[in-house]
Amino acid sequence: MTTITPSPLSAKIFDQIAAAVTEGLTSDPKWLPSWLFYDAAGSRLFDQITDLPEYYVTRTERGILAEQAEEIIAQAARGPALRLVELGAGSADKTRLLLAAAVDRQDTVFYEPVDVSATALVEAQNRIEREIPGVLVCPRVMDYTKGLELDPCLPGEHRLVLYIGSSIGNFEPKEAKRLLENVRAALDPGDCLLLGIDLVKGEQTLLDAYDDAAGVTAAFNRNVLTRLNKELDADFDLNAFQHCAWWNPAESRMEMHLQSRVEQTVWLAALDQRVNFDAGETIHTENSYKYRPGQAEALLAESGFHPETTWTDERGWFAVCIGRAR
Ligand code: AVJ
Repeated sequence: MTTITPSPLSAKIFDQIAAAVTEGLTSDPKWLPSWLFYDAAGSRLFDQITDLPEYYVTRTERGILAEQAEEIIAQAARGPALRLVELGAGSADKTRLLLAAAVDRQDTVFYEPVDVSATALVEAQNRIEREIPGVLVCPRVMDYTKGLELDPCLPGEHRLVLYIGSSIGNFEPKEAKRLLENVRAALDPGDCLLLGIDLVKGEQTLLDAYDDAAGVTAAFNRNVLTRLNKELDADFDLNAFQHCAWWNPAESRMEMHLQSRVEQTVWLAALDQRVNFDAGETIHTENSYKYRPGQAEALLAESGFHPETTWTDERGWFAVCIGRAR
């Protein structure tokens, strides 16, 4: 007998997951898209990652923004008013630093967070409107990786688009360029883009950041299988897959994989599909590209922006760059 459980997902998201998983798990080598990490449980695990001692990324970027928020906003503003747009539903305290600096310069700041998740947007809206009076949140439910449509600006107003947190690092260089070109196409000349990008550093620092001692990143990686068990009625045995993270110097990226400890067959009931694994075979679940100094600016320049200023931390681990739409 089969039990029928009502699907909590919209048909559209189910179709996207089914298509991606079918393609990825029938490929050789196998892969899964990294956006699959971020269901409710995965988003909570990512929040925990940002607090880990080994995960320098969030802390380092926050330090740069805390120090430079006023200057970043002043540089972007150049005119009577600035409107902030964020790709992703607000990276909490990092975004707050910039919004607070903007509110100091002008009475009211429009803030348009763009995200596929309506839930994440509502949470961001509540949090920000409660914590920073003067910010008017206009959430936009949209997949910015597929193109971007923004509200028109008021006369004299400029936009500052935030794409921080090294989210761009999940994209291959060609995709990253296409994404920024799409952002540029939604902007007017003079608008700005603030890009937060993680930089190449010592290999051990990178390995520790993606394979922490407490095992939170391993849980984050394996959660993708839990998600497939739930949403595609699959029977992945979590203990039969090991979290692996390694540095790929040729591609300048950290990679995360899930390695099958044994030869096994997994059944994905919702797809009516069987997937075979050899012992030691891996599923590639994430790329996290690390840039060299100058490469972020080159990416901005290739995508229709004039790179203006780059701020980094004293160790040179992370870069925050501002580019102006040409
Ligand atoms: C959210 C894409 C910036 O690549 O560092 C954290 C995700 N993966 N630990 C990153 C992640 C493993 C993170 N980004």
